[in-house]
Amino acid sequence: MSDSKLPPSQIPQAAWSGRFSEPVSDLVKRYTASIFFDRRMWRQDIRASLAHARMLARQSIIAAKDLAAIEQGMATIISEVEAGNFNWNLDDEDVHLNIEKRLTALVGDAGKRLHTGRSRNDQVATDIRLWIRDAIDDIDILMRNLQTALLNTAETHAETPMPGFTHLQVAQPVSFGHHLLAYFEMLRRDRERFADCRRRTNQLPLGAAALAGTTFPIDRESVARELGFDGVCENSLDAVSDRDFAIEFCAAASVAMMHISRFSEELVLWMSPRVGFIDLADRFCTGSSIMPQKKNPDVPELARGKTGRVFGHLMGLLTLMKGQPLAYNKDNQEDKEPLFDAADTLIDTLRIFADLVPGIRVKSDAMAAALRQGYATATDLADYLVKKGLPFRDAHEVVARAVRACEARGCDLPDLSLDELRAFSPLVAEDAFAVLTVAGSLAARDHLGGTAPAQVRAAIARSRTRL
Ligand code: ARG
Repeated sequence: MSDSKLPPSQIPQAAWSGRFSEPVSDLVKRYTASIFFDRRMWRQDIRASLAHARMLARQSIIAAKDLAAIEQGMATIISEVEAGNFNWNLDDEDVHLNIEKRLTALVGDAGKRLHTGRSRNDQVATDIRLWIRDAIDDIDILMRNLQTALLNTAETHAETPMPGFTHLQVAQPVSFGHHLLAYFEMLRRDRERFADCRRRTNQLPLGAAALAGTTFPIDRESVARELGFDGVCENSLDAVSDRDFAIEFCAAASVAMMHISRFSEELVLWMSPRVGFIDLADRFCTGSSIMPQKKNPDVPELARGKTGRVFGHLMGLLTLMKGQPLAYNKDNQEDKEPLFDAADTLIDTLRIFADLVPGIRVKSDAMAAALRQGYATATDLADYLVKKGLPFRDAHEVVARAVRACEARGCDLPDLSLDELRAFSPLVAEDAFAVLTVAGSLAARDHLGGTAPAQVRAAIARSRTRL
């Protein structure tokens, strides 16, 4: 509908237009509006408005019939938005005013009474907290799904040896299952971080009104209970101006993305034909428009890349807040896009990775071949000598000399004969060869947190009960 066709008395007015002598330009309207992005909080906005209205009625601040009208109007609005028939209007600036305006069109004065004892400042703070709470609950389920995928693949590969690396050089054998369990642990901490963020998010700002509280006899605790908050924000100025929870959310999302990015980096490396440890299912890769032989690990590369934008959102929010005096400032409207994008990015990434992990095809031959190239069991031989009585530093020296000899000859430690090994230390006996095998090396690390297959299986069992 074009506004210019309406008689002057019916031209839509901004909710706050009474104070102004001229309307804002179209550019300023667009610049200051948030309806393009905050309308995705419509469910939270209605939920919070209904709780507010019910409290107003309980406290006899509005009449029961007004509440009934508000509830009925909101039900209509919910079905309109769900059906895609709600007319989001730039003239009404944001999600709050759009819904209130429609409510008033539907139910008249009762709609105009809804805003009694509240402000958009405490309203928006409440909506975002509800939105983040919902997002955290979704994220927790998705992280759990990814953890399950990691556990399942780890179980299949509890005994599959691969080189463990330090400095990107072959260090000691680990099992692929053990390696994956490292990421399970990271996700365990990530879930704790989000749960912790949820606790501080889950406090009700509503009741703070614009900044100082309200003159109406409100009952904040009952609103908090109805909306599932653990408590109420205890200072009205802080309630409307605090965005710590959004920063904490982005911080937790950043750490989680950092973990996924490290995993991605490994997947890319492992899939490089130079390494060839794994293959990813075709549905996570793309080809090259010019090089017919290519199968590129686009999904992990993009996850690694998208991690940067989530870090950026964290920096953006910190910077958004650092210069703001109390209490609410319009700057705060800029909190939503970074927040939403951080959540969307993390959620999509978690979803994709839960599907990607079961599709990892492990090339155990290539992993075994790599293990034969880096003296991966050198530490085991040193430990063996220690158990025969040699001090560890001397044992280290003996094996280092043996490795140098192997390097000169282009062979591995177990390729040396018993006599050749004994030339480095007379403590070496026939049983040293069992110690030098990859399977022996894995099995020997048989303690909590170690890579022995029995320990990996125990870790998986423990982790499953924790999920
Ligand atoms: N759209 C605004 C925001 O997201 C709502 C609060 C507006 N408050 C105000 N005093 N202008 O922050």
